[in-house]
Amino acid sequence: MFYLSQLKKEELAGKTCLLRINLDIKNPEKDSWRLNAVIPTIKFLLEAGAKPLILSHRGRPQSENASASDLKFSLKPLVEILEKRIGQKLDYLENLRLDPREQNNDENFAKELAAKGDLYINDDFATSHRASASMVGITKFLPSYVGLLLEQEIKKLSKVMENPERPLVIIIGGIKIDDKMGMINHFKNIADYFLMGSAYIDLQNELLKNPKVIIPVDWIGENNKKLDIGPKTIEQFSKIISPAKTVIWNGPMGLLSENSRYSEGSKKIAEAIIESRAFSVVGGGETSQFLLESGMINKFSFVSTGGGAMLEFLSGKKLPAIEALDKVNI
Ligand code: 3PG
Repeated sequence: MFYLSQLKKEELAGKTCLLRINLDIKNPEKDSWRLNAVIPTIKFLLEAGAKPLILSHRGRPQSENASASDLKFSLKPLVEILEKRIGQKLDYLENLRLDPREQNNDENFAKELAAKGDLYINDDFATSHRASASMVGITKFLPSYVGLLLEQEIKKLSKVMENPERPLVIIIGGIKIDDKMGMINHFKNIADYFLMGSAYIDLQNELLKNPKVIIPVDWIGENNKKLDIGPKTIEQFSKIISPAKTVIWNGPMGLLSENSRYSEGSKKIAEAIIESRAFSVVGGGETSQFLLESGMINKFSFVSTGGGAMLEFLSGKKLPAIEALDKVNI
């Protein structure tokens, strides 16, 4: 793979760099981990005298028959925030998914995009599990590089895949528990514990027979709904986390981590991970948003911008966009 970080200023100066980033952010009013994470790459390019042209998608406009004028799919408000933070105007193309050829990885669309620049940089780890024209097809038509953020994502996640220091504790929460089964299966003979803080675990699941899998002993809730893990579970989980040398965390404890009444579980688990001084990798939109808003995000070793992409990477699957960058010859 070829890395942007290895390019010299002279190799970038004056070049139009197609920069694929992730602006798939619902609410531009809220601060976002994803948005902040791409700023170093944009600054790197500008400082080298390159001209970045931003490519991204937002939401799934095709599935809603949306038009370019539908603001909820526009990249404009997000680019404006980036411009404010960086202090200068940025060039961008509107939401690539407004054209159905993007998600079909259409070769002509990839060629049309490629014609707009001198080189291509992928810095969108969160979409790297999708084989689309701006993630995969385009790498055939331009010298293609791994951006600064994508480089960190690959290196930090590979570290926990290839050589995790033990004890390794994996903490699973959130609603979409099925999406996490691939990662659980991959680590079932490697991890020392799986702490299941989700109310959505199917108690019939075979997995629960594994003695390494620990489910909550108490819950906080309303109307029979399990909304957060209870104090005994927090204590039990924290004791297991304390001696860990590696922690992987995806998905908030309980259900409503954005509601402060039910965020105690996530808060206490975050504190236990920080105190353990383990190498800690966190992912998933809700979990990183919670850590950002509670001011703890910088205390983790690595916070991935990926949701589905991180889970696929940690299941041992090859992600199409990373495979495409791996095949590049310059
Ligand atoms: C994400 O948020 O996971 C990426 O932006 C990919 O979005 P998608 O699930 O709509 O393909």
